[in-house]
Amino acid sequence: MYFDSHAHLDDRRFDEDREQIFAELPVQGVGLIMNIGCDLNSSLKSVALAHKYPFVYAAVGSHPDDAAQVDEARLALYRQLCADEKVKAIGEIGLDYHYEDPSREVQLPAFRAQLELARELKLPVIVHEREAHADGMKLIRQFPELTGVFHCYSGSLEQAKELVKRGWYIGFTGVITFKNARKAVEVAEWLPMDRILIETDCPYMAPEPHRGRRNDSRLVPLVAAKLAEIKGVSPEEMGEITTENAKRLFRI
Ligand code: NI
Repeated sequence: MYFDSHAHLDDRRFDEDREQIFAELPVQGVGLIMNIGCDLNSSLKSVALAHKYPFVYAAVGSHPDDAAQVDEARLALYRQLCADEKVKAIGEIGLDYHYEDPSREVQLPAFRAQLELARELKLPVIVHEREAHADGMKLIRQFPELTGVFHCYSGSLEQAKELVKRGWYIGFTGVITFKNARKAVEVAEWLPMDRILIETDCPYMAPEPHRGRRNDSRLVPLVAAKLAEIKGVSPEEMGEITTENAKRLFRI
């Protein structure tokens, strides 16, 4: 069984065929999905999806793109949503310095405030961190009681080692199947089995041979298959291990 630990199936790009995708998940062996909030609207939709489908769970939070909206009122709404038993994490939250829109001065306090919320609610976090490795780790170190996952991991092996030491998990998307995925492969080779999560990040990051097209949770076994090849186990075994890992992290 496979657990897609990071999906955006609430996205409007699935409005036409969402039901069909969900109906076909068992055929691919996909049994659990964590649907991720990026802002208030997608957080609300994630919770709604989790209520409609027993195998879907939800994370709520503001992506760095939405950082300017993170104020006391917004945090209060997220806090309320987290009282729902199907909400299992705060996310996705973090830092993205690729476009720096909004600026890092806006992103940093929003990330910190949501880490504080996770600490208060004793929930794991799902971190989006792109080209912000130093600032991201600096903040993580200030919350030693927190764990979570660095999703669609793009950091160094050294950073991965520190995260693992701190009890964190590393999430891999279809990017690991790309020809130029040398760095992610190096991290996966080293990573202990009990810290690996698989994810689609759909509708983005479709694995080979679907690269560039709309992604969905039916393709998460391709991510597991690539990791299985790297680790020398069967794809099914990789599915079982990463499912156990995600269930442990999200307390499902
Ligand atoms: Ni995402």
